[in-house]
Amino acid sequence: MQSQSEPGKPRRGMVLWFTGLSASGKTTLSQAVAKALRARGEAATVLDGDAMRQTLSRDLGFSRADRETNMRRLAALAQEHAAQDEIVLVAIISPFRELREQLRRESQASFLEIFVDAPLATCEERDPKGLYQRARSGELARFTGVSDPYEPPTAPDVHCFTAEERVDASAARILKAIENAAR
Ligand SMILES: Nc1ncnc2c1ncn2[C@@H]1O[C@H](COP(=O)(O)OP(=O)(O)O)[C@@H](O)[C@H]1O
Ligand SMILES: [Mg+2]
Repeated sequence: MQSQSEPGKPRRGMVLWFTGLSASGKTTLSQAVAKALRARGEAATVLDGDAMRQTLSRDLGFSRADRETNMRRLAALAQEHAAQDEIVLVAIISPFRELREQLRRESQASFLEIFVDAPLATCEERDPKGLYQRARSGELARFTGVSDPYEPPTAPDVHCFTAEERVDASAARILKAIENAAR
């Protein structure tokens, strides 16, 4: 399989699955990578878990079944975009290892799992939306990392340590992984 696109030929689609705790940096990183891809003339689509919960997944809560449904919906939508030769960046906590691995196996397009990793303490300190505070006070139930599980990837394609690495450095490593991936 060729890793480089031929001139004048559209490259095939790809799915980049960003998983990690709330405030680990999934939205920030996926947006940075999408911006860089667009600057290169690539079609890049971000599907953000937070945004989707306001629209497509408005009916869902945070039970295991609902989280799984949310993951499956975003994966299905990602496949639709990837089938149109887009690079799809999915930014969703997606706490379940087994299901992430299943979604990778089922993907029709190349699929890169990107672990957006920061210690829980760092995420709580950032708390850009005040969610950890609400989870700690008991106002929010079933909050990932606090009162609900997160199963980290065992072999992610890219492992970003966002407490130690700058956004542009993580983004550069992800862009390199995209270039090296078979499409
Ligand atoms: N190296 C880094 N990578 C990504 N985000 C970072 C980094 N350092 C600090 N941040 C900050 O952490 C926060 C991450 O928030 P966000 O991207 O919304 O996370 P998530 O989408 O995973 O919930 C942002 O405020 C971002 O500016
Ligand atoms: Mg986000």
